[in-house]
Amino acid sequence: MNTWIKAAALGMIVAVCAMVSPDASMAQDVKSLRGTLAIEDGNTAADLYRLNTGKRFTRNYRQQPPLIPHRVEKYQIDVKANQCMGCHDWPQNVENNAPKISETHYLSPTGERLNKVSGSRWFCNQCHVPQVAAKALVPNTFKSSND
Ligand code: HEC
Ligand code: HEC
Repeated sequence: MNTWIKAAALGMIVAVCAMVSPDASMAQDVKSLRGTLAIEDGNTAADLYRLNTGKRFTRNYRQQPPLIPHRVEKYQIDVKANQCMGCHDWPQNVENNAPKISETHYLSPTGERLNKVSGSRWFCNQCHVPQVAAKALVPNTFKSSND
């Protein structure tokens, strides 16, 4: 089917669904992570499915920021301090037996080679996230380029 026809058909289905389901019943179907707890009641933190395998995962595509195989809660990153660098910056990485941050992390946004990590890479967890065994939130057809 041509993409435009598909898009139009989908639009019609959405419009019909919106007409047949009144707002009140839709509101009942929506469930937040807090469940039915009242706003003033305390809630336990959601399970994060952390893995912390200690072993590096294979990347799904070449440019993927590798997932973090260890705990990160205690490592402070703020304007002045970055405790990740205590293990991952050269030469400390050698004695800590940790992978050195990628050479790309020493390049300035204009491509100059710097002697320290670039400011644009300072907040590691902007790109690197700990390994998790979470189910996909929505169905998707993503395939690793290793497959
Ligand atoms: C105490 C030392 C230490 C600290 C601090 C530390 N790491 Fe690590 N990290 C390691 C070691 C060791 C490995 C390698 C584990 C292995 O290869 O089995 C690793 C692996 C990684 C990897 C995986 C690299 C790859 O190629 O798969 C990432 C990403 C990473 N760390 C990010 C971070 C971030 C972000 C922080 C700060 C929030 C941090 N680390 C703090 C020791 C550390
Ligand atoms: C803007 C996104 C971004 C930020 C911020 C960032 N990284 Fe990365 N990192 C990547 C990507 C993408 C790769 C893989 C491709 C590459 O090597 O550039 C990578 C690779 C790595 C590797 C693997 C290196 C190797 O040779 O296997 C480590 C370790 C790492 N980063 C640690 C860190 C630490 C520690 C910080 C914080 C100081 C950090 N990164 C900040 C995106 C980022």
